[in-house]
Amino acid sequence: MALNSLLDIELTVPDPNSLTDFWVRRGMLETSAGVLGTEDREVQLRTVEGDYRHMSELHLGCEAEKDLADIAQRLTGLGVESEILDTRLTCIDPVFCHRVVIDVTAAHPLTPTQARAHNPPGQQNRVNSRAEAVVEENPRPPRRLGHFVMGTPNFKEATKFFVEGLGFKISDQILKGVATFARVEQDHHNLLIHPGPTSYLNHYAMEMDDVDAIGKAGAAVLAERDDASIVGVGRHVLGSNMFWYMLDPQGNMFEFFSDIDQIIDDEAWDRDFGRRDWEGSDGPAGFSVWGPKEPEVFFNPTDIEIIAAGREAAGLPN
Ligand SMILES: [Fe+2]
Repeated sequence: MALNSLLDIELTVPDPNSLTDFWVRRGMLETSAGVLGTEDREVQLRTVEGDYRHMSELHLGCEAEKDLADIAQRLTGLGVESEILDTRLTCIDPVFCHRVVIDVTAAHPLTPTQARAHNPPGQQNRVNSRAEAVVEENPRPPRRLGHFVMGTPNFKEATKFFVEGLGFKISDQILKGVATFARVEQDHHNLLIHPGPTSYLNHYAMEMDDVDAIGKAGAAVLAERDDASIVGVGRHVLGSNMFWYMLDPQGNMFEFFSDIDQIIDDEAWDRDFGRRDWEGSDGPAGFSVWGPKEPEVFFNPTDIEIIAAGREAAGLPN
């Protein structure tokens, strides 16, 4: 009985139409004005207009009405006000200041990926035909919003709100707990909180079918804008996901990812692996097992001062 889904996020940007159109070109559906989804999940990203780019709403699902009451009680303990109307809880995140909306909702599984035939050594799974990634007409579209990553100087308070208040489960913590990977689903992370110069959305991540889907979708983005790539392709250490990080037309970093770790048994999950950088001598877990390392700009976006100024103008804390 708990949170069970990351449903959608609202992205506020100066030109929401350009962002909506960008994702439609990637194969997502504009299911209503400014709302992006897929056939499986009609609402995943919502775009609205505002002065500076930020995540303005986080929409989560939980299993039962009792969960809402439990969350409200925990939030009260942290000094955060919330309101429950029917089967919906709303509150304002005390650090990032976006709205949080939690609905009681049934699980909403994805249609399983249509696997492509591969020919590993010693196996002939695809004979007398070319690879599907070569002959398919269009790149496969994103499947779902998988996670979002937030940077903030107030990372301890933010972590407390998400974990102790809302009930996110910790999957890995690194750097003596400074950065926290947490989940509400079975993905290794639906959220990462890390230190940052101001409170901001570091990236949002769209799940893709496989590495070919990542590569082809990323190549199509590059064909539109040759400086869109931030880092990739590679495979992360924590979460194990393959990644390609890029910029959307409104300056948000996003990630195409695939093959992320699935945690269905807390007891079976080895969190010591993530702790080794602060309890052992193996050094930090690191950004990737293969592929490029993160550039300086990864945790210091070039528009961070615009975001900080936008927050100040809106009367929000740093
Ligand atoms: Fe990510």
